[in-house]
Amino acid sequence: MYSGVLARYSEFLPVTPATPRITLGEGDTPLVRSPRLEKELGCGELYFKLEGCNPTGSFKDRGMVVAVAKAVEAASAAIICASTGNTSASAACYGAICGLSTIVIVPRGNIALGKLAQAIVYGAKILAIDGNFDQALEMVRTLVEKHPVTLVNSINPHRIEGQKTAAFEIVDSLGEAPDFLFIPVGNAGNITAYWKGFVEYYAAGKSSQKPRMMGFEAEGAAPIVRGERVPNPETVATAIRIGNPASWKGAVAARDESGGVIDSVTDDQILEAYRLMASKGGVFGEPASAASLAGLLKWSGKLDLSGKRVVCVVTGSGLKDPDTAMRGSPSLVELPAEVSDVERALGWGT
Ligand code: F0G
Repeated sequence: MYSGVLARYSEFLPVTPATPRITLGEGDTPLVRSPRLEKELGCGELYFKLEGCNPTGSFKDRGMVVAVAKAVEAASAAIICASTGNTSASAACYGAICGLSTIVIVPRGNIALGKLAQAIVYGAKILAIDGNFDQALEMVRTLVEKHPVTLVNSINPHRIEGQKTAAFEIVDSLGEAPDFLFIPVGNAGNITAYWKGFVEYYAAGKSSQKPRMMGFEAEGAAPIVRGERVPNPETVATAIRIGNPASWKGAVAARDESGGVIDSVTDDQILEAYRLMASKGGVFGEPASAASLAGLLKWSGKLDLSGKRVVCVVTGSGLKDPDTAMRGSPSLVELPAEVSDVERALGWGT
C-alpha cells in the first residue's frame, strides 16, 4: 500500500525517529502523456504532472504533510498561514488530522469558492482581510513573532522539502529528468522546491541531467519579471495573485542555474490554455495551473522542442474554481423530458 511522501522519500527529508509518519496518501500523482497536444506543439513528449490528484486537490499537500509533522514533533498546538486558497485548504486538512488548531488568513473576495469550502469543512479558523496575499503574509510573519503558533507558509523550510518530492517522482517515472519543466509562479516556493529536488536527485545519481526551469507569472502579478514588487497584483488566476513573492531569490536561482526563464502570461493566454488543457488534454486544472501550458504555448515557437521531453506542472484541480469555469459559458439548453424535444434541440428532426 502506498504510504505517502514522508515514508517514500524519508532519506531525502528532514525526518527523525520522532517525526510522526502522518499521511493522507499525498504524492504519487499521475504523470500523463498528451499525444494530441504534443503533436500540435511539436514536442517530442509532453506530460502533465497532475498535482490536483493530491488529497486536498493541490501540490500543497506534499509540503504541508512535512511541515505539520514537524510541528507535531515540536509539540506545537497551532498552525497559521496566509493563503490565496490552496495552502489554507491543505493546512486545515493536515491540522485537522493531527488535532492542531489551524488559523488561515485569506484575501477577502479573491479566493476560489472550492478552496474556501475546504477550509470551512476541515474546521479552520478563517480570517478574510481587506487586503491581498502579500499583506496577509506580512501579518502572519508578525503574529508568529508574538504568539506560540507555527507558520506553515513556504517560508517554513519543511514545506519546500516536502514539495521537492514532486521532482523526484517525475524522475522516478521517466527514468531521467525532463528537458524542460513548465511551472506557474506565485509566491515562488514551488519552483524553488522543484529545482532543489532535481538538483538533489542529480547529485544522488538518479538522473544524468537537470531540466531547464520555465516559470510563469501572471502578467498583472509579475514582480520577478518586472524586477520590482507589484503593490496591487491582479489576475484571473487568484492562486498566483501575488506581488512580493517570499521565495523570489529561490526562483531566480532556479532560473539562472538551470538556464531557464521566468516570464509572464496574460489572463487571456491563461484562460486559453485552461480551456485547451481540458478540451485537448483531458486535464481540468485551475486557472493558475494553466500558466504552465500558457507558457509552453508562448515559448514553443522560440525553443527547439523536437525530440525533447517537456513536463507541465498542473498545480491544482479545476474543480476548486467553478466560477471561472462557468464564466462566459453558453447557458444550458433546458427542455421537457421528452425524446422528441431532445431530438429537435440536437437538430435531429424527424
Ligand atoms: N498554482 C496553484 C494552484 C497555487 O495555489 C499556487 C500558490 C501556485 C500555483 C504558485 O505556487 O506560490 O509556490 O509559486 N498558492 C499559494 C496558496 C500562494 O496560498 O495557496 P508558488
